[in-house]
Amino acid sequence: MTRFNNVTGYVALATSLLITSTAADSWPKRGLAANDDVPISQFGGSWNNHDSQVNWQYNWDSTTSQKQSFAEYVPMLWGTANYHTDQWSDNAWYWINNGGTGHLLAFNEPERGDQANLSPQQAADAWNQYMEPFTGHAQLGAPSVSNDGYDWLNQFLQACSGCHIDFVPIHWYNDHTLESDFENWVNSICSLTGRQVWITEFQAFGSIDDQSNFLRSAIPFLDNNPCVYRYSYFGTADNSKVLLQDDGPSLSGLGVQYAFSPYGSGDGPN
Ligand code: BGC
Repeated sequence: MTRFNNVTGYVALATSLLITSTAADSWPKRGLAANDDVPISQFGGSWNNHDSQVNWQYNWDSTTSQKQSFAEYVPMLWGTANYHTDQWSDNAWYWINNGGTGHLLAFNEPERGDQANLSPQQAADAWNQYMEPFTGHAQLGAPSVSNDGYDWLNQFLQACSGCHIDFVPIHWYNDHTLESDFENWVNSICSLTGRQVWITEFQAFGSIDDQSNFLRSAIPFLDNNPCVYRYSYFGTADNSKVLLQDDGPSLSGLGVQYAFSPYGSGDGPN
């Protein structure tokens, strides 16, 4: 009888620890990848009594005129051209010290010739010069690779093995039928890096209904995966505004679904 009580006690203890840690492991993860001329003010607040899940934003740049009260602005050092690096340090310190910023992003799709276009070694050198000084002042992201960037990222992490990299942002674009490919891609980066992952650009190719169905599966996967720290669906950018009605500021149905589906659900705020 005593033994049985002990077992019951253990089960009760284990259950309460599980509940506590599950609650502690839940945090809003949704954000916006938004160019400054795209209106995003209506992604905050609530809809049908559901609070917005959107609490961070970035704009592929190191400062913004569109910081929203409901969101943390995350500066990015897009690449190593002078017009990016010249302002980087001042802007990053400004946002850390005055703007509530706790995270910084580095080079955008460096493995692509039409984006940041850096070898792993060039990126590691630039990372040490421009990102490493912020160690301990903000959480620091690795360069963000596209879904062709696995080998590049692997080489970068070796070239930058002494670097203080807190998290790893990645992108994904593929057909709407390939949601399992999206999950495998995210999980493969978690395994490769042993760090938390941000999906800072992703979009399913297909009609709006196809994208909506994709998000019904993708959002629960992302919210419930403790390796995923944050994500931002592509759709508030100059070249894709699918989260907005016309050009905004009102949200499209997809935008409402993205911002106001409760935590762990992609089904919309109903
Ligand atoms: C580019 C950015 C651009 C954004 C939105 C990104 O892939 O690197 O420069 O602002 O897309 O079009």
